Amino acid sequence: MDRLINLVVIRPRETQLLLFTTSILFTYITTLSTAQELLQAGFKATPNPKISTFQPLLNDSTGNFSLAFLRVNKTQLALAVLHVPSSEPLWLANPTDLASWSDHTQLFFNGSLMISDPHSRVFWSTPTNGDLVVLLNSSNLQVQKKLDQDSSSVLWQSFDFPTDTLVENQNFTATQSLISQNGLCSMRLGSNFIGLYANFQENYDQIYWKHTALEAKAAIVEGQGPIYVRVNSDGYLGMYQNGTTPVDVEPFRSFQRSINGFLRLRLEPDGDLKGYYWDGSSWILNYQAISDTCELPSPCGPYGLCMPGSGCSCLDNRTEFRSGVDCAPVETGNFCGEKVVKDNFKALTRSGVELPYKQLMQYETTSSLEQCEGLCENNCSCWGVVYNNASGFCYVLDYPIQTLVAVGDESKVGYFKVREGAGKRKRNAGVVFAYAVVGGVIVVLIGIIGFWTYRTWWRRKRNQEEEGDFSPGPYKNLGSASFKSIEMSSR
Ligand SMILES: *[C@@H]1O[C@H](CO)[C@@H](O)[C@H](O)[C@H]1NC(C)=O
Ligand SMILES: *[C@@H]1O[C@H](CO)[C@@H](O)[C@H](O)[C@H]1NC(C)=O
Ligand SMILES: *[C@@H]1O[C@H](CO)[C@@H](O)[C@H](O)[C@H]1NC(C)=O
Ligand SMILES: *[C@@H]1O[C@H](CO)[C@@H](O)[C@H](O)[C@H]1NC(C)=O
Ligand SMILES: *[C@@H]1O[C@H](CO)[C@@H](O)[C@H](O)[C@H]1NC(C)=O
Ligand SMILES: *[C@@H]1O[C@H](CO)[C@@H](O)[C@H](O)[C@H]1NC(C)=O
Ligand SMILES: *[C@@H]1O[C@H](CO)[C@@H](O)[C@H](O)[C@H]1NC(C)=O
Repeated sequence: MDRLINLVVIRPRETQLLLFTTSILFTYITTLSTAQELLQAGFKATPNPKISTFQPLLNDSTGNFSLAFLRVNKTQLALAVLHVPSSEPLWLANPTDLASWSDHTQLFFNGSLMISDPHSRVFWSTPTNGDLVVLLNSSNLQVQKKLDQDSSSVLWQSFDFPTDTLVENQNFTATQSLISQNGLCSMRLGSNFIGLYANFQENYDQIYWKHTALEAKAAIVEGQGPIYVRVNSDGYLGMYQNGTTPVDVEPFRSFQRSINGFLRLRLEPDGDLKGYYWDGSSWILNYQAISDTCELPSPCGPYGLCMPGSGCSCLDNRTEFRSGVDCAPVETGNFCGEKVVKDNFKALTRSGVELPYKQLMQYETTSSLEQCEGLCENNCSCWGVVYNNASGFCYVLDYPIQTLVAVGDESKVGYFKVREGAGKRKRNAGVVFAYAVVGGVIVVLIGIIGFWTYRTWWRRKRNQEEEGDFSPGPYKNLGSASFKSIEMSSR
């Protein structure tokens, strides 16, 4: 340090020039060395604490895509393939088991690409013994084995393990699934359809959107193998069995409009499936599977009521809808484990309600509302029923009640079980003592509150226009509620 100061004092001009050149060179070298074009055995990287968005490790030949450390929720780390100009992640290696953004975490390639904390454990790794890792210009990450000088075989590729996104030319098969960032929704293929499913309860998937192949140009032949889908560069989601003629074409807005932007399809946290294209500076919405908010899996949360065009309220009209708060408590498990089933819920009925996506739901036919309710009341695995008086259709819900849709027709009635007194059951001595202590404190507080209440009441009296009528709240983002949510800090 002293020597440096001396230098500056003696020959300021030259030293400054030297420092300047060195710093430029240094920046250039670090830029080069932080993002390479292929990784070979022995490659190792750790996250840089100064980076707040993402740290590129491996680029594709166009520089549009990078394999990078992506910072998630400020302190966590995901290994991601992302679109560099927008920092949009297209694939995550370890979406359900994030590492931490600390110098303990490292990415290592020794034939297997691996994220680990050598002091504790491996978060994610490829089951390979390869020679190199490359990122193709399609955003496909591959671990390859060298066969000879200029050919190699693919041992593993990220396209086979999609997360919530498909990019153009990526094949999506019946053995794969897309899972939304919050883990609630998934996309899977059936024998002749694309299905979107909501995981409302452990081990229970409710289908909420189904797109069946039209088979206009080619038919699905039984026994000729499963179907697969692919986002075609020409602007559609094609469904194929074998051969190049699609059995179904689901057009995007850019279909037959020769737009050259890169395409991606993402299963969003709210359960919608959306397509986008990159116009050079931003992502343009190009496809939307569900455009009616009330048809999404649970836009107003459990026990919510979606009012087409005017936001959310609660099924129980005495409860005010608040964004981010459930209308009623929902706990996992049904009513079967309890000794006295009837005492553990109160019944809520509401007319003018209907199920969303009811065309995909099972129903029974009953001759009256009472008979329909009867199918549920004493059945501990039932959470509620929705009855259509005109058709006699009785929909039995065997998962915790989600958002219903408000309709003008008052003959459509819902009967719902609402959990009651969840906290009351396990009261022990410790709790009783705590209550006694709290009771003492409350006595002291009552004086203060009494005064405050009086003042509030007095003010209210002057502003009489206050009504008990609740105005609808905004639609709620599914990801905000009870489900684990991974917020990308780069957005
Ligand atoms: C790579 O390293 C890990 C941990 O050190 C080891 O378990 C694994 O067998 C190695 N893989 C290969 C292909 O050498
Ligand atoms: C991507 O790579 C393929 C094959 O390596 C090549 O044919 C194609 O031109 C490349 N595309 C771009 C945009 O660089
Ligand atoms: C997708 O599937 C088609 C047909 O099976 C195949 O020709 C193509 O190479 C596959 N694409 C990728 C990226 O694996
Ligand atoms: C890739 O980069 C080129 C310029 O280098 C740009 O024209 C093109 O739009 C980019 N593509 C994507 C998908 O970002
Ligand atoms: C709430 O619903 C009940 C039963 O449907 C009805 O009797 C009551 O008038 C409603 N209250 C309000 C404030 O709308
Ligand atoms: C209770 O409801 C479940 C789910 O709707 C159904 O599968 C079952 O058969 C019903 N049990 C009885 C005894 O009705
Ligand atoms: C329900 O349907 C029955 C006969 O189909 C009819 O008599 C009754 O008035 C209807 N109830 C309501 C509330 O619409």
